Amino acid sequence: MTTSAPLAGKRVLLGICGSIAAYKAADICSRLGKLGADVFVVMTSSATEFVGAPTFRALTRHPVLVDLFDEPLSDRIAHIDLAQSSDIVLVAPATANIIAKLATGIADDLLSTCLLAVPTSTPLLVAPAMNTVMLEHPATRANMTTLTERGVEIITTGYGVLACQDIGYGKLADVDEIVNAVRIRLSTHDDFKGRRLLITAGPTREPLDPVRYIGNRSSGKMGYALAEAAVHRGASVILVSGPTALEPPAFVKIVRVETAEQMLEACMHAAPTCDVVIGAAAVADYRAASVASKKLKRNSTTSLTVELLPNPDIIATIAARRAVGQFIAGFAAETDDIDVNAARKLQSKGLDLIVSNDVSRPDAGFDVDTNAVTLHWPDGRSEALPLQSKRATAEAILSCIAAAIAKHNLP
Ligand SMILES: Cc1cc2nc3c(=O)[nH]c(=O)nc-3n(C[C@H](O)[C@H](O)[C@H](O)COP(=O)(O)O)c2cc1C
Repeated sequence: MTTSAPLAGKRVLLGICGSIAAYKAADICSRLGKLGADVFVVMTSSATEFVGAPTFRALTRHPVLVDLFDEPLSDRIAHIDLAQSSDIVLVAPATANIIAKLATGIADDLLSTCLLAVPTSTPLLVAPAMNTVMLEHPATRANMTTLTERGVEIITTGYGVLACQDIGYGKLADVDEIVNAVRIRLSTHDDFKGRRLLITAGPTREPLDPVRYIGNRSSGKMGYALAEAAVHRGASVILVSGPTALEPPAFVKIVRVETAEQMLEACMHAAPTCDVVIGAAAVADYRAASVASKKLKRNSTTSLTVELLPNPDIIATIAARRAVGQFIAGFAAETDDIDVNAARKLQSKGLDLIVSNDVSRPDAGFDVDTNAVTLHWPDGRSEALPLQSKRATAEAILSCIAAAIAKHNLP
């Protein structure tokens, strides 16, 4: 699956302060770079006591700046240039000291001076890390409130055992959460911002004995493409996935299952909190009535009969218990009478949209990177999308869902 780097062309100013958590800034820096961002690092002098500037020079391929009065790299003034040319500014880890300086307008080193020069239109994110008592000190709390009121985003600290062995809040937030906060703030296409999506993907495996199962040819590529596209558009995504060889997209919460019954259980747990559910998994219609506890032995003279029981219809079960305002879409993999079968399923399952695809085509459906789908709506309308990559198909489906949600003024 081809992916475009979500932060390509974005310039991030990363400020690093003198905290034990400073080493985690290397991971943040590397992750932002992998997402395509051009990262510039400013360290406080205390930060360099914890981790060396060469690490960040190597990760960013830019000089790392520490001192306000270092020889400028160009004829521009470093702190003004850095502050004004960045698309976003992140301070991670942020000490109690830098938070106090920013709240009160002190500019006595390069980082604090840069932060005062950041235009109000540029997102400024601060990820504090400190001892619990320092975090809960009235001065720190008041400073953080001041920053929040001024539009600075504080990335809440985590709870746990701190470097000083105290237990409490004050741990730097997870690197994943910090990088995700940057990504969300820079996302330009955000029609799913604040929405929670549940997406199912891949096949299910229905065991016959400890080594054999009934499966199908689904690769999971369509569901994974939907999950990745939804995240890029600002959604929080839970991806319930049957067995696939795919890497889960970044920032997606993945729940791995094998059987249809496990998939149903995971979906019923997640669905009530989601605004949109998209069932893209190829769920096995049947499972073995009994699963042998030992490997079935081969017998070349007698035939083997397996009794199959129908599996639950996952998307229909979710639709039958839908939360108020929830939008539910299903997929229909068909080989014949596609429009008739899709319309029938749309109605019998009680869905808001069904996406049909002709899986007999070699360039659409299972295990290929392209798809040609038709969207069927409850009012009888249908819309055929062209043959295109699964990622482009995912984007088109999401645009149609966003338009439908807006039209019906769903919450
Ligand atoms: C071992 C050690 C660990 C520290 N960890 C933190 C920390 O996690 N958070 C914090 O606010 N200050 C911490 N400090 C104190 C800061 O380094 C100190 O306040 C310093 O002046 C901060 O400077 P800066 O904000 O310019 O980076 C630590 C100090 C030491 C010696």
